[in-house]
Amino acid sequence: MWQGGSNVVTIPDAPWGQEYIRLSSLEIEKTKCGWENHTPKKDKSIDGNNITIGGKVYESGVGTHGPSQIIIKLNGSVTDFYTVLGVDDEVKEAGNFDYHVYVKAEGGATEDVAKGTINRFSNQSVDIHADNLSGWKYLYLETSNGTDGTNTCDHVDWANAYLVFQDQNSTRPCIVSAEELTTKLACATTVFSQPNVRFMQKVRSTVTGAQLSVSNLPAGLTWNADRNIVEGVVAEEGVYTYQINVTVDGETTSEDVTLTVSSSLQHPVPFMGWLSWNSVQGNISQKIIEQAVELFQNKGLYECGWNHIMMDDLWQGTRKADGTPQPNASRFPNGLKTVADYVHKNGMKFGLYTDAADRTCAGAFGSYGYEGIDAKTYAEWGVDVVKCDYCYAPDDVETAKKRYKALADAFAAAGNNTMLYICEWGVREPWKWGAEVGGRCWRISQDVRDCWTGSGSGVGVVQSIEAMKNLSAYQGVNRFNDSDMLCTGLHATGKSSNDLCGGTGAGMTDDEYATQFALWCMWSSPMALSFDPSKNTLTDADFKLLRNKELIALNQDRMGQQGDLISETDNLVVFAKDCENGDVALSVTNMSSSEKQATFDFSAIPALDPTKTYTVRDVMENTEAGEATGTFTTDVRKHATRVFRLAEKKVVDGVASTFSEKDFTFVSGKNCVKINMPETAGLAKRILVSDFEGRVVSGLTTTADKAKVALAKGTYLVTVVCNAQARTVKVQI
Ligand code: GLA
Repeated sequence: MWQGGSNVVTIPDAPWGQEYIRLSSLEIEKTKCGWENHTPKKDKSIDGNNITIGGKVYESGVGTHGPSQIIIKLNGSVTDFYTVLGVDDEVKEAGNFDYHVYVKAEGGATEDVAKGTINRFSNQSVDIHADNLSGWKYLYLETSNGTDGTNTCDHVDWANAYLVFQDQNSTRPCIVSAEELTTKLACATTVFSQPNVRFMQKVRSTVTGAQLSVSNLPAGLTWNADRNIVEGVVAEEGVYTYQINVTVDGETTSEDVTLTVSSSLQHPVPFMGWLSWNSVQGNISQKIIEQAVELFQNKGLYECGWNHIMMDDLWQGTRKADGTPQPNASRFPNGLKTVADYVHKNGMKFGLYTDAADRTCAGAFGSYGYEGIDAKTYAEWGVDVVKCDYCYAPDDVETAKKRYKALADAFAAAGNNTMLYICEWGVREPWKWGAEVGGRCWRISQDVRDCWTGSGSGVGVVQSIEAMKNLSAYQGVNRFNDSDMLCTGLHATGKSSNDLCGGTGAGMTDDEYATQFALWCMWSSPMALSFDPSKNTLTDADFKLLRNKELIALNQDRMGQQGDLISETDNLVVFAKDCENGDVALSVTNMSSSEKQATFDFSAIPALDPTKTYTVRDVMENTEAGEATGTFTTDVRKHATRVFRLAEKKVVDGVASTFSEKDFTFVSGKNCVKINMPETAGLAKRILVSDFEGRVVSGLTTTADKAKVALAKGTYLVTVVCNAQARTVKVQI
């Protein structure tokens, strides 16, 4: 309760176009306060009184205790900082501390803003103004013992402290803890894998030039020092801990990684499906859900993997008196269990939306304070995925973590294995904490719009690339960076998705839609389509994309890797993605407005060996594209993307094989191996099966396109020879 009178010193109103962000509105809980069992106070002194210095009461500020430290990450759009720093009147007998306000650049260089000593009985306060902050990364506010050599009575007030924020569409400043700044890792440390599926973790440091290594890897994993990756296959389920060691200037620090290997992960590959927002918004209903299910089933999409049907905002009605959530009664006359059952009956998963505050972005009820009853009710309905938004919730990251964790814990307790999909738009860098609080994927940007270049905070394809391009080390199985809904099939028929497109509102060209889709596949981003299933807006070009199984296979690759940015020169953006079977997918996107030629330089792509020969598959067109050693050149139209999958050309017994996995597939059955050879009907093939001592245990010759060889339990090498070429695989029966 405010106790001040009319002689209170206030913070001035910000002029138009600026915002004055009060220090007390940031996460001051994360700052260092020297008085044991006390935490800094918002708009109060450390003892909880009005902030008062020399008889003057200040309306705002942070009350803390020396020795103290507040670190503000400025994020580019803060120009000035103002405060009156003083020792609070509540200490009568003493109070003496040194202060140091300074700025720090990305590389560590610092510059002083203000420095001196505060004394309760002489200079009780000082006005501090830091200007020209926009080029600096951090602002530090520190106090230490002072000339009396003790921190007794050092009741520090950062009175009326505020930051001048210039661009309200840019990233807001935030407080970071000293621990956050000391991590030298810029990669995930909570990672997941399925047993017997190839695993990869990219190890990256915040320090350029740091030397990286690992210790205590579980059996099956190895350290690839050339690429700074952990890779391999772990056979046994379990939770493993290993260390990443970072050496900078001869000094090594270690941080733990937790690897969970489980065959029942919630989100082993990114979800693919439909989310109602962009086109349907407040018209979401049982009928629309049924139409979506039918469209996905009848148009050959379900069989390509599109199997999640999810409602976004505005499905809600009102809560019952006991708090139980209820859907809008007229649009869901039979309740949501009926709807979920229908989705499940069709072999699909069902999702809905909520918010980590009392209201959702569109004003329906949110889940804050109702986590338990919501989780229980969702479980009764059979909800598989919950997208949880962050409108009307506090800015700070610690609260966000707490609120999302409360929901994830409630879902786990409700026992329906409901998966948490975090949507706070990438503002608080959820890739650094989302997995730790129980989320399985998280939006990394503001809302995607149906355009190539968004305007203002609008995210077109151009902005999606910007937002996603440096996040690959934070992604893996069961922890996916989400680039938001796809615009495929919208053709400007969406609602909010047409805003912030610079006034064009015309949707995108086929090449632009294909680029968006191809990049989501290269990144293994979750994929949610968002067209209106009651309208017939999907074109042949859209269906061709949505049914492109080779492209989808990249998105669904079980190693879950996000393609790495390789280069972005000359308006060509190149990504490279490691695939589970060792193949490497390359994409090039032409950002310019005319056709270009692009050359992939294998020596600049860590996943490739420039001395080796690769067979190249055009994944967009589903055609063979020859072989490549060292480089590969392609044309790429304006705003289009070409995607190629490269398989190392294997030499088997001295015979070069041009056969790829697609030519011959090997399936181990009960006491047999089945070989499909779709392209070689009519050609003579010799099939040889040998054991690991090299003894041939079976063989046959056939001209058919299918063969079956009976085998006892064991491990074999199966070779198909055709036209003097061969392909060999290891098969386990
Ligand atoms: C936010 C989200 C969108 C959508 C809307 C619904 O803007 O980012 O994806 O869920 O809310 O109101």
